Amino acid sequence: MSLNRNGVEGRVCVVTGGARGLGQAIAAALGAAGGRLAICDVLEDELAQTADKLRASGVEVFAAPCDVSDSAAVDAFFARVAEELGPAQVLINNAALVPGGPEDEVRRSKHYAYITTPVPRGSLGFTSAMSDAEWLKYWGVNVHGTFYCTRAALRQMEPRGYGRVVNIASVAGLSAYSAHSPHYSATKGAVVAFTRAVATEVAGANIFVNAIAPGGVATPMFDAYLEKLDEDARNRMFQFVPAGRLGTMEEYAGLAVYLAGDGHYLAGQIISPNGGMF
Ligand SMILES: NC(=O)c1ccc[n+]([C@@H]2O[C@H](COP(=O)([O-])OP(=O)(O)OC[C@H]3O[C@@H](n4cnc5c(N)ncnc54)[C@H](O)[C@@H]3O)[C@@H](O)[C@H]2O)c1
Repeated sequence: MSLNRNGVEGRVCVVTGGARGLGQAIAAALGAAGGRLAICDVLEDELAQTADKLRASGVEVFAAPCDVSDSAAVDAFFARVAEELGPAQVLINNAALVPGGPEDEVRRSKHYAYITTPVPRGSLGFTSAMSDAEWLKYWGVNVHGTFYCTRAALRQMEPRGYGRVVNIASVAGLSAYSAHSPHYSATKGAVVAFTRAVATEVAGANIFVNAIAPGGVATPMFDAYLEKLDEDARNRMFQFVPAGRLGTMEEYAGLAVYLAGDGHYLAGQIISPNGGMF
């Protein structure tokens, strides 16, 4: 049986939010498996640096800035991908707003203390303090962006009868572990529901859509947050992760490459690597 380097070799693989973090790691893993990469992000400098690094390792890369929450920009990006590399065959919907700002960290720490220590009970007050703008910003990128990119990719995949789409959801969309960020949790729940619906719709065209719903990912951003916690708070956080650590980016990227390939029969599945959390 030939796995054709997992069925990714020579395929045109689009990774959104590929400039840093998990998206960068997934792009690198797809490139190492022989994928021809198209990556986009709103972080132009980081995107250019990532593209240079990937090219230096021998990978073919088309990189262009694109805000996935902008429908016209997404369509223009996919048109460029088709021109530069050919029609998209793999799409990794990774771009997202992830709560990591100072206010997000305050809520996160308050929530983790609440569920790991006997602090007084009461409302944590996260949803009642949420502005329309914050809520809509997250939906614009995480949900509308996933839809715009999926639609643009399907327009290239459907006529050719082949495609693999991997949506990066989160354990936040399956559980209450991210109650500190109700807007983020809601968007990831929507990504889970969209994955199941669209997977059923397109599987008959040999386009398999699945989602990865990560628990904690050891990205530089998450590591920086953990560094700021005192040892006690860090230990308390890991109380609800049976594996006692975050997943590495490589552990998640390996699964993304598997789902991006043609050596499986998975469609509409939500796979949650989470160290036993959920
Ligand atoms: N880090 C975690 O613990 C964790 C856990 C569960 C799920 N996830 C998911 O993994 C994915 C990657 O997250 P990460 O932790 O690497 O965070 P990150 O912030 O480092 O990466 C997200 C990337 O998306 C880009 N992006 C944001 N808005 C964009 C837009 N409008 N258009 C294009 N690109 C945009 C960012 O610039 C960034 O490069 C996300 O979908 C996130 O929800 C992460």
